[in-house]
Amino acid sequence: MTAVSSTTPPPRRGERYPLRNASEVEDRRLARLEALSDPITVAAFEALGVGPGWHCAELGAGRGSMVRWLAERVGGRGSVTAIDRDTTRLVDLAHKDNVELLEGDLCTMALPADAFDLVHSRSVLMHLECPNRVVEAAVAALRPGGRVFFEESDGGPAAAARHAPEPFTRVMLPMARRWTWARTLAGLLESLGLVDVGDDRREMRLMGDTPNARFWQLTLESVSRLAEEVGARGDQAGAGFERADLEAMSKLLDDPSFSVPFVARHRVTGRRPG
Ligand SMILES: C[S@@+](CC[C@H](N)C(=O)[O-])C[C@H]1O[C@@H](n2cnc3c(N)ncnc32)[C@H](O)[C@@H]1O
Repeated sequence: MTAVSSTTPPPRRGERYPLRNASEVEDRRLARLEALSDPITVAAFEALGVGPGWHCAELGAGRGSMVRWLAERVGGRGSVTAIDRDTTRLVDLAHKDNVELLEGDLCTMALPADAFDLVHSRSVLMHLECPNRVVEAAVAALRPGGRVFFEESDGGPAAAARHAPEPFTRVMLPMARRWTWARTLAGLLESLGLVDVGDDRREMRLMGDTPNARFWQLTLESVSRLAEEVGARGDQAGAGFERADLEAMSKLLDDPSFSVPFVARHRVTGRRPG
């Protein structure tokens, strides 16, 4: 149980992940992400055997749906440590006896050694400047027999989107080109001494007029608002986006005939021996 108040620094130009959970559109975007992803994550937690008494860490907890699920599942003998740079949407969890909220930058904060049965992240490490450092800290934070479970995307498949409409090549392709890290994750876990390493890789298309398209429309809206806020170009992925391109891409996502290869979702697990 922890009391925190958000002290997240404002976004700066060129920042790799400049979106802030406190904004209203970002709250809607993360709610959409949870609705799309929670059933898959929960099924994976159940397959891993997460149960009463487990001690878990949720890296980049966002709006906290998985923190809530884990806290319920592990019960009073277990615990969930929820970490995010921006805990605005997590404050209602501060009263829970088995939840600890930590606000801070994963790239600089320390994790306790030999502390967790499970360390999980979803759509977080792929956006960091320092993903390997965080993975190393997560592995060192496992108890003997503990597991990591990382769900992160790689933008490789987008390069195969030949003859894609221009808004896609101007907006989504530059974003996808930045996401090259997840393909290295399983090898990193093996090099750190984890066993039973698995990489469930699934390619996903970006298709108009789908729930996933709505999520990306909210992402584009968030990027566009951010551009206004910082008085600069929208810059989620470090590439400049013109407002007209963001709007054209958003419109394309309404088109049910739009369909291109986009990302590979990696769900990577590994276990500390012992
Ligand atoms: C795309 S959201 C994913 C949220 C949540 N994991 C989910 O799947 O619903 C990325 C999250 O990572 C957090 N984040 C980004 N960079 C971070 C950093 N350097 N340190 C800690 N948290 C960070 C953001 O604040 C945000 O909550």
